This record gives sequence, structure tokens and C-alpha cells, in this order.
Amino acid sequence: MNTLPIGVFDSGIGGLTVLAALSRALPHEDLLYLGDTARVPYGTRSPETVTRYSARVASHLYRRGVKALVIACNTATTHALPTLTAAGAAVGVPVIGVVKPGVDEADRVSRGRHVAILGTEGTVRAGRYQAALEARGLRAEGVACPLFVSLAEEGWIEGDVPRLVAERYLGGLRGGPDTVILGCTHFPLLRPIIQAVLPGVMLIDSAEATAVATAKALGEAGLLRGDEGPGRRDFLVTDNLERFITVGRTFLGQPPEPAMLVDLDEAVGPFHEPPAR
Ligand code: DGL
Repeated sequence: MNTLPIGVFDSGIGGLTVLAALSRALPHEDLLYLGDTARVPYGTRSPETVTRYSARVASHLYRRGVKALVIACNTATTHALPTLTAAGAAVGVPVIGVVKPGVDEADRVSRGRHVAILGTEGTVRAGRYQAALEARGLRAEGVACPLFVSLAEEGWIEGDVPRLVAERYLGGLRGGPDTVILGCTHFPLLRPIIQAVLPGVMLIDSAEATAVATAKALGEAGLLRGDEGPGRRDFLVTDNLERFITVGRTFLGQPPEPAMLVDLDEAVGPFHEPPAR
């Protein structure tokens, strides 16, 4: 079991920010990433549709064999975490989402007890982050920043265009929350711009927080691999492999390879034999 990869799932490319954080926190683990590029974006879809798509991806990864599943997508975690956790429990796979780690970190660092969550339309409208923050006694507000997703994928992460967009979305937060959760996989790329618009505000990267939470959860479950050299990273996508590799470079700092196309409904066996070490 310990030699199986950790499954990492996102609607497309953005989850590579979570994969990068996982690689840093768990350098000896094999990571198997699946980006559902045929159905991206999830952020504008209904909770029911996102849950259906997410369940299909998770089931594919369970059939390939993963020892844990990280939902590296805020929108998918927001809508589908209970469904995926139940399906994971049925096959003995722990499931970790990105919402709780970000909320835990905000709770830990917020001095003013006032937190804003930035996300996709779906994440903000569902209010799961806000409810979790309020349950900790924090004041919470959500701001949907859908254009940040396109800007990050376009590579427009510095200069006038993203600064004006950030000013428009976030200018109203000045003087309000002391802590802001980057509650979308794409937003860490825009961190310098967001910080420039909100100087002095504590920014929480839910990708980093999730990687730390995953390492802790696997350690507690006795599922960590020892130091047997660097883990491997493999990438699966459901459409447009070339774009994934090209755009993915911005998110990962290097091309996400080896990568291949998959059909989620095809019969699959284990992704790879544990490599000889
Ligand atoms: N991965 C999504 C998230 O973190 C953003 C992209 C999408 O809308 O699918 O919410």
C-alpha cells in the first residue's frame, strides 16, 4: 500500500500548484496527477455537475490504485468532498480537500479575526469556506475573482492588466480583512499582484496548507514511504495534452511530464509497477 502513488485531482491545470507544494512537502512520494481538461472549468458549473465529474475522476484514480486522494481543486472540494470521502472510505482511501487546511491556517494566523476568501464563482457562491470560517468564530466574506483564472492561464501575472483586474475585485477589501485565503488553484500565481493591492494583508496559499495537511494525514495513517530517493510524478489529462504541457509549465516551473491522455471510462489497471529503487 505505501508504495502506491498519491492521487492528485483537479479540473485541469491549476492543481499543479498543489502538486508542486506536495512535491516539496513529500519529496519521496510518487504523485499521480489527473487534470480533467475535457470538462474544465468547474468554477462556473452547478454543484451537481461538479460532483458528478469529480466522482468520475476519483473512481478512475481508485481503479488505477492510489493510497490517498488529494482534491487539488477548490471548486471540486467545495461541492464534492462529502461524496468523494464516502467513495474513498469504501475502498480504504483517505481523501484530503483544500478547504479545511486553508481555513485552519487562517484561523491560526488571523489577528483581526476577519478573513476574505477569493475563489471561483462556484466556490464563493456555495459558501463552504465562509461557513467553516464562521464556525471558528471568524468574520468571513467571499469575493469571486473568475478572471484571475484566465489571467493565470494566459501567463498575464504581472503588469497593468492583472493589476487593474485585481484592483477592481479587491480594492473594496482595503481596511477590512487582515487575512485573505487564495481559495483557487490559479491564484498563487497572482500572489505578488494581490499583495500589492492589499499591502499588509496576510495571504494564505491553500496549496501549501494542503500539502502540510496531507503529509500529516499520511504520517498518522502510517502510509508514508521512507527515504528511497525522489518520488516520480506522472500526469494524466482527459483532453488537449499539448496545451496542458505548455500552460502547465507556468504553474509547475517545468513542463508537467511524462503526461498522457486518458479516457475516464476505460478499464485500467495499476498505473505503473512500483519503480525499482
Ligand atoms: N481548479 C479550480 C479551483 O481551484 C479553478 C479552475 C476551474 O474553474 O475549474 O477552483
